[in-house]
Amino acid sequence: MALREIRLDGDPILRKKSKEITEINDRIKILLDDMVETMRAANGLGLAAPQVGILRRAVVIDVGEEVLKIINPVIIEASGSIVDFEGCLSIPDLSGKVERPEKVKIKYLDENGESKVYEATGYTARAFCHEIDHLDGILYTDKALETFELNKDDNSEEE
Ligand code: CO
Repeated sequence: MALREIRLDGDPILRKKSKEITEINDRIKILLDDMVETMRAANGLGLAAPQVGILRRAVVIDVGEEVLKIINPVIIEASGSIVDFEGCLSIPDLSGKVERPEKVKIKYLDENGESKVYEATGYTARAFCHEIDHLDGILYTDKALETFELNKDDNSEEE
């Protein structure tokens, strides 16, 4: 595994739409492993492939008990609404309040190509929505109701 460089806001790649993954080959598996390592090293809770410069529909999300490796995610149900804070590894030193669904149901492929459905609530639902937005070139600051500069010594976790 290897650390990859996290692209920062202003890099045009973050604004492009990522392509579906049609074949889960070694390249994709290495990408997912590297994304997990890069996310952990940066103290994040989620990371999307375009954030490491790869325009493919792959994300990793720390759901607490494990880190999910997610390919071609689609939100198939969403309900409720919560406004809460979120951050992004591509936008350091900023936090913002964003309205997201309270619950989402996501369909995706795991790294073995098996179709999975995952139901997420609260902060995990927020993480899924945030990471899937990255695959469509959307940053949370596009949707934020308010943003706040963070103290650089603060160790809060970001996505
Ligand atoms: Co992000």
